[in-house]
Amino acid sequence: MCGIFGYIGDKEASEKIITGLKKLEYRGYDSIGVATMNDKLAIFKNVGKVSDLEEKICSKNLKGTTGIGHTRWATHGAPTEINAHPHYDKDQKIVIVHNGIIENYQELRDDLIKDGYKFVSQTDSEVIVHLIAACYAKSNNIEESFIYAVKRLQGTYAICCISEYDPSRMFLAKKSSPLLIGVGEGENYCASDVSPILKHTRNIIYLDDNEYAMLSTDSVVVKNYKGVVVEKEIVKSTINIDDVEKGTYDFYMMKEIHEQPESIINTITNRCFIDEGKVNFDFIGINNNELLNINRIVITACGTSLHAGLVGEFFLEKFAQVPVEVEYAAEFRYRNPIIDSKTLVIAISQSGETADTLAAVVEAKQKKARIISICNVPGSTITRESDGVIYTKAGVEIGVASTKAFTTQITALYMFSIFLARIKWIINKEEAKNLLTKLYEIPELIRRILLKKDHIYTIACKYYTKPSFLYLGRGISFHVAQEGALKMKEISYIHAEGYSAAEMKHGPIALIDENMPVVVVALKNRSYEKIASNISEVKARQGKVIAIATEGDTNIKNLVDDVIYIPDCEEELSAILSVIPLQLLAYYTAILRGCHVDQPRNLAKSVTVE
Ligand code: M6R
Repeated sequence: MCGIFGYIGDKEASEKIITGLKKLEYRGYDSIGVATMNDKLAIFKNVGKVSDLEEKICSKNLKGTTGIGHTRWATHGAPTEINAHPHYDKDQKIVIVHNGIIENYQELRDDLIKDGYKFVSQTDSEVIVHLIAACYAKSNNIEESFIYAVKRLQGTYAICCISEYDPSRMFLAKKSSPLLIGVGEGENYCASDVSPILKHTRNIIYLDDNEYAMLSTDSVVVKNYKGVVVEKEIVKSTINIDDVEKGTYDFYMMKEIHEQPESIINTITNRCFIDEGKVNFDFIGINNNELLNINRIVITACGTSLHAGLVGEFFLEKFAQVPVEVEYAAEFRYRNPIIDSKTLVIAISQSGETADTLAAVVEAKQKKARIISICNVPGSTITRESDGVIYTKAGVEIGVASTKAFTTQITALYMFSIFLARIKWIINKEEAKNLLTKLYEIPELIRRILLKKDHIYTIACKYYTKPSFLYLGRGISFHVAQEGALKMKEISYIHAEGYSAAEMKHGPIALIDENMPVVVVALKNRSYEKIASNISEVKARQGKVIAIATEGDTNIKNLVDDVIYIPDCEEELSAILSVIPLQLLAYYTAILRGCHVDQPRNLAKSVTVE
């Protein structure tokens, strides 16, 4: 979604901003803009890519040591140059950039129009700059005007403002949209996430909701909305700078697919102790007695994270013997869910900023549920709203199509299931040892699958022109099928559906003909015979079957058109392995179709609006 980058210091701001915005491109955007201040404010905007604007800016030699930049993902108003941020007030003395949605913008806009303010864009964001200007006309004080405007907004926002009236300060505020501050020496930064800041400083201040900040070249002052100064901790970011670079890979997605063995190792290291048959978490936030009191678990998430939750449901119920429901975060809060203090809500989110998941967490908290989040981004909003957090240690995930987040989320859920089962005395030390040993084997098994990528590329070459794919599986593999279909549709724009193989004959079978590739996750487990029958049903209708099968299953070759073998493993862990070929199949298909894998159209990495 929208990205913000701001700089105040003694260097040319435009260069810093363009480099910063490039690092935010992965969030998804359709237009961009930069404003700098050199005595006077100047704005440059464009529809398209950051590099297009870079050319424009270079040719104008844009000067100024203070500036703000924005990548816009359109919500209110089409992706046009006029709707791109920053937005000016009528005297062109104040500019703002905004990420989020102002829910009461229509009402504010109508009032401002009555007072003579003219709007040039269709955005909800433009009201902010006119509100600041309206207050400034009376108060002559930018800080007062900024906070006056912010307090009138309903909805979500991260806002950054600079003005000719107070050129030595930059103003920031946030509510439910991420915004953090990079504290440098003789310069300060702000951004939607840490990735564009890391090359300048590792000293980060996380702004909280209902706080505003004022940055100058050598100071950062944070206040609450009552105007009281808040002492903020400066956190040293430990993110490896290589994590935010592509390295030798063409796309982040491919890099991240290959990082999965390492990410899983990082997620289990220092938490799983095989010899003791034990799992330990640092920030679980809920003590064992309270956990023993839990009589129900609700997992809530969106997209890929939801699929991880659906996989986790199997082993939470099996190992920890607690009823589990998995619910789309976007639906959760609108159906008045029956939850109480004995409900544990597990919110899963790679970014920790997904608006729907955050709203579900807030709803659950109001109903007194206990909350644990499974999250990849330290300090993100969802983690701060939760009682406890299990961090996935996937490293920064930049590709919009989530890959290593999925496999580490499953890893975290598997570990948590064992942890819960142990404190409930459902499994003993030996059983836990066995389960943990199997988990430790997974990274090496993934490496073996990655060696098959040429074979998967050949399969992609056979099918990449097809308009539609069906993905089938049963049990855990059903949710892998859903995840495989999601990967395919989001990066290759091929229509793809993930179904329970058993459901196929209740509708989707009507779609099958010789043009329909059907990807079937057909592992050697208790559903094998049934899924083999489903494959026969597809073949009987001339469908083309690509099977993900267990090594050693030679029989399946006679049933299907193409096979990708994966090593045998515990059924509970099979999703981590069987999803790898599906990630690669989607990747190669997208490449063959000429799609930009890391920045698929219309998508955003972190969906910060509901
Ligand atoms: O950051 P989150 O895990 O909360 O994001 C949830 C979804 O938006 C995300 O998984 C999305 O579905 C991905 N693009 C899938 O690849």
